[in-house]
Amino acid sequence: MPYDRPVIKVEPPGPRAREVMRRHHELVMTSTHDPENLPLVIERGEGVWLVDVDGNVYLDFASAISVNNLGYPTHPEVARVAIEQLSVLAHAAGTDFYNPYQVSLAELLTSMAPGDFGKKVFFSNSGTEANEAAIKIARYSTNRKYFISFIGAFHGRTMGSVSLTASKPVHKKRFYMTMPGVIHVPYPNPYRNPWGIDGYEHPGELVNRVLDFIDYWVFEHQVPADEVAAIFFEPIQGEGGYVVPPRNFFAELKKLADRHGILLADDEVQMGLGRAGKMLAIEHFGIAPDIVTLAKALGAGVASLGATVFRKDLDPEPGAHSNTFGGHALAAAVAMKNIEVIRSLLPHVAELEKLFLERLAELKERYRTIGDVRGLGLAWGVEFVKDRRTKEHDAKTRNRVIYEALRRGLVLLGCGKSAVRLIPPLIIAEEQAKIGLDIFEEAVKAAHA
Ligand SMILES: Cc1ncc(COP(=O)(O)O)c(C=O)c1O
Repeated sequence: MPYDRPVIKVEPPGPRAREVMRRHHELVMTSTHDPENLPLVIERGEGVWLVDVDGNVYLDFASAISVNNLGYPTHPEVARVAIEQLSVLAHAAGTDFYNPYQVSLAELLTSMAPGDFGKKVFFSNSGTEANEAAIKIARYSTNRKYFISFIGAFHGRTMGSVSLTASKPVHKKRFYMTMPGVIHVPYPNPYRNPWGIDGYEHPGELVNRVLDFIDYWVFEHQVPADEVAAIFFEPIQGEGGYVVPPRNFFAELKKLADRHGILLADDEVQMGLGRAGKMLAIEHFGIAPDIVTLAKALGAGVASLGATVFRKDLDPEPGAHSNTFGGHALAAAVAMKNIEVIRSLLPHVAELEKLFLERLAELKERYRTIGDVRGLGLAWGVEFVKDRRTKEHDAKTRNRVIYEALRRGLVLLGCGKSAVRLIPPLIIAEEQAKIGLDIFEEAVKAAHA
């Protein structure tokens, strides 16, 4: 170290990697690992580089699914704070007693979430828990039963949040019944939607169709609008394919929600904290949601931390919801420094956004199997199709691209039915980003061969 390019000494998985994978599959619950997962056994990391157990060095375009936004192993400023905090206080029953660290983080998060109104925070350990809390806050405060969420959404896998999730049937297979009362509606996906509208050319028409769907097909046929507690959404769908909706969508959705007293719950678990070029992705869309959920990058890869930021007047009574680890002092201290570092990186992310937009648009021109390229900040999705006219998904080519990239030392992850996400750590230098984009093109070429 330090590295300036990937080094592949042995085709992954090498012998040591195969042995760890064999033992893993013997000992760790099968459901966590998809057969399509990459055979990547990580031993250590430095900056944007990952080293596997066989000594291969990879450039990371996956950021551990947008957790390691500041790279590896731990950003030095965050590590310093973590070590200092460890010598003072780590866990101290933050939901039974008090500590100043969680109060400071709550102050920071409530000022970060948009909206000129009072806010409070519930701390948890993960994205799904942050959303469970949001579900309970919405039900408790409105005393309403139903929820609306979007097809393609991923909000987690516990029984409440999985009922909002609608990205893959396997998430629900044999788990019936999950939380009843969730209605799924189409997401305003500009590339692929039930009406065949080109949402890049006609964003207004797409937005109107989705809103009409809710107004007419849901409120006039399925459930009364005044019994809907909240609409959950991702500002950019992550697991569903890195789908960016038209810019006016959430403002129009808010008008609809306000007409019926319905809360808006914004799931920023994957897109929040700089990933999409703003502290919160919803800032691109200019609305103030009633509830915002965060996790993944919040703990900087050091602490498992989730947060539900909500309008103060929705606050449930004592005992209605709590947990053990919420308000963990180490997690809170780490998150505060992490947020400060991420904020300082936003201008850098804006610069790199241009590079990604330009290079990926060129690739779309060059390779016919690329049907769509979309993204903001350092959150990019490239969707592969068999035929641009029919838009038939091409998962085989997508999977091949991911594997060909790995063989060349670039770590990528899939999303949606046939898309690849390109989500490097926000600290990536322009030169490193160019190396990654070059390897991505080589992998696309190889997948076509
Ligand atoms: C948007 C979104 N919400 C919620 C979750 C669930 O988070 P966790 O896996 O921490 O429970 C995820 C995880 O990928 C996510 O992407």
